Amino acid sequence: MDVSRIRDDFPTIKAGNGVYLDSACQTLRPYQVIDAITSYYTEFPACGGRSVHSMATKVSMAVDRSRETAASFFSCKDPHSFIFTKNCTEGMNIVAKGFGLRKGDAVLTTDMEHNSNHVQWVEMVRDIGIKRKITRTSGTGVFDTEDFKRQLTNDVKLVSMVHTSNVTGTSVPVGDIVEMAHDKGAAVLIDGAQAASHTPVDLKKLDVDFYSMSAHKMLGPSGMGMLYGKEDRLKALRPLISGGGTVGLATYDSVKMTAHPEKFEAGLMDYAGIIGTGAALEYLSKIGMRNVERHTAGLQRKTDKELRGVASITAVGPDDPLLRASIYSFNIKGMGSHDVAMMLDSADGIMIRSGMHCAHPFFVSRGIDGCARASFHIYNNDDDVLRFTSAVKKLAAAFSK
Ligand code: ALA
Repeated sequence: MDVSRIRDDFPTIKAGNGVYLDSACQTLRPYQVIDAITSYYTEFPACGGRSVHSMATKVSMAVDRSRETAASFFSCKDPHSFIFTKNCTEGMNIVAKGFGLRKGDAVLTTDMEHNSNHVQWVEMVRDIGIKRKITRTSGTGVFDTEDFKRQLTNDVKLVSMVHTSNVTGTSVPVGDIVEMAHDKGAAVLIDGAQAASHTPVDLKKLDVDFYSMSAHKMLGPSGMGMLYGKEDRLKALRPLISGGGTVGLATYDSVKMTAHPEKFEAGLMDYAGIIGTGAALEYLSKIGMRNVERHTAGLQRKTDKELRGVASITAVGPDDPLLRASIYSFNIKGMGSHDVAMMLDSADGIMIRSGMHCAHPFFVSRGIDGCARASFHIYNNDDDVLRFTSAVKKLAAAFSK
């Protein structure tokens, strides 16, 4: 894999616009994705799935192609198992609110969920009377199978968990979780926002019922995501939003819903986004997700080697860098995380994220105010790591008490 050739595909890197280490939030996009989006607007900016004229037919065919690309990217046979959403959060909400949980039913999550797999459960406990169960991970976010088994009681109807944490980079053993949940009759929904962008995900093999992800963390357009569901699960799932495109025939007092995926894609869709998503998945397929994983693990190891042992720097996450995927979260003694992020940017042009990363309960339960977070993707190189780590060391030396 030739990283310097890959870097040429990314306009902000070519323009020398700083060191981008915020890919867990949103990745950069290559020309191939930008060109696909532009081609929609310049060549066939029409509506898909409705009008039958030539431009609209081209849109419908391009949407079908993106769905087929998604299916092959995630090792599934059926493109209709993929719903286009605006982000991973929307996919998580479609399942939470359409699954049919009733008073007394329980949902089981980890204690390190992003708010996209947390806020809706707090609301549904309050509004419907469902039960929320939480399996505790270690202080650094490592999954505890024994605790999971204890929490997986007969009232659990849905296990809803993050695949890879956006704070610590730790992953849960999805295959084992699915097996244990299915044995108890519970369905499994996975928040794949971070995992899908960094590791090969074989949905058939994992046997999950639902898997949600964000295209904008996978070199795709902003405001695009996908929700995968097994056929029988999607048939039973109620849509979150109703309207045009979701019904076969509507009379004044009745509607006949279409099948999935259309019943979940109400109103005019983001066709440019869907086409750009397809282009992003094709781009990643050519590189190979195994290579993405290997490359970012190498950058993580290098970061760890450079910063390990610096007394005023604490990594937030497990000690073993191999357990942290492509995420390096840390604090510098005596400095707030936003100050760290702003200073790295203003002094050295290094862009990272700071704060609680929309995973507030993780931080509150551990008594940490937040952290700075560097995250890597395929376009980052060793030089980016060295610029980042030397800038962090400089800050630590200057500011920590
Ligand atoms: N979930 C995204 C992040 O961790 C927004 O930055």
